[in-house]
Amino acid sequence: MRVLVTGTEGYIGARLAPWLTRHDHEVAGLDTGYYRDGTLYLDPIGLPSSPRTVYKDLRTVTPADFEGFEAVVHLAELSNDPLGQNQPEVTFRINHEGSVRIAHAARRAGVKRLVYASSCSVYGAGAADFVDETSPANPQTAYAQCKTLVERDLKGMADRDFTVVFLRNATAYGPSPRMRFDIVLNDLCALAWTRKKIAMTSDGSPWRPIVHIEDICEAMRCALEAPAAAVNGEIFNVGATRENYRIREIAQIIAEVFPGCEVSMGPPSGDNRSYRVSFEKVATRLPNFKARWTARMGAEELRRLFARIEMSTETYEFRAFTRLKQLKYLQRTGQIDDDLLWRGAR
Ligand SMILES: NC(=O)c1ccc[n+]([C@@H]2O[C@H](COP(=O)([O-])OP(=O)(O)OC[C@H]3O[C@@H](n4cnc5c(N)ncnc54)[C@H](O)[C@@H]3O)[C@@H](O)[C@H]2O)c1
Repeated sequence: MRVLVTGTEGYIGARLAPWLTRHDHEVAGLDTGYYRDGTLYLDPIGLPSSPRTVYKDLRTVTPADFEGFEAVVHLAELSNDPLGQNQPEVTFRINHEGSVRIAHAARRAGVKRLVYASSCSVYGAGAADFVDETSPANPQTAYAQCKTLVERDLKGMADRDFTVVFLRNATAYGPSPRMRFDIVLNDLCALAWTRKKIAMTSDGSPWRPIVHIEDICEAMRCALEAPAAAVNGEIFNVGATRENYRIREIAQIIAEVFPGCEVSMGPPSGDNRSYRVSFEKVATRLPNFKARWTARMGAEELRRLFARIEMSTETYEFRAFTRLKQLKYLQRTGQIDDDLLWRGAR
């Protein structure tokens, strides 16, 4: 299949493009390149062939950008709550309006399938013990609200000629050349490695579902390859039900995996984003999908990677590995403007 992946220069995209290539898809990329100057490691053997990439803001795409593609996997957005809260209006323009623009342009160009990277954060403060795809969305932030709005608008576009699949990913972890240390397991592993200490600022009681980056890539591949009738207009939470943890449990697993690491807890926090998610549907109804990773396996993998690349505190703190830090740097240095559009060198 000829697939255009948006966000190929980001954390998930940098793993997804080679994953799809290895599974015999022909992949091209589209990205504005905010985090291009952060590369945690080079792995030309494990991650062959970076895709041909068009550097473009998704707010300016036209149908011509999608000519000749059979499918689109759409990842490119401002990718977490702090980024979204930083400039909520810009977040709505990129994450909501920009994503809807992508879908319309793709459909007009004759693309047959779009896989959208949504998020379990749409559940927000879950009232129920376990939430599933039928639970009401309760978004708490601009980022999560945009995910809900994109799902609503794209669902209305699904028809016989245009298959749309929504993957509500749990919080990801695991290695990527375009690493993120602003997501929980990656962050805590980096703290365990560089400081040998995880000092939690809260009591770590909130629940978080987490999922390995490879399991996300595999779900995206399955969503691309499944018969349209099995997935069109469907929402799938992506993760595994056993992989719901309290944050303090994640910290404890990491302390066991990184020798000599201490963990201390803080007082209860006001953060009310706590939810446990059922992943029964993806396990039983997304053809060929199976989530393979556990938090412990992921922590062990990161420990091996950090040893191999001699991970330092400077690397952990490098701005490009924390999305908000990088965008603030690009703005402060005049490289992008208030709307997060590139200014070009002057
Ligand atoms: N990583 C996670 O834990 C997680 C969990 C659930 C959902 N998701 C979703 O998956 C997608 C990818 O996440 P990620 O972790 O790889 O994020 P990321 O921030 O690493 O990558 C996003 C990419 O999109 C690009 N981008 C941002 N705004 C753009 C614009 N206006 N035009 C063109 N490109 C733009 C960035 O340059 C970046 O390369 C996002 O939509 C995110 O919301 C991620």
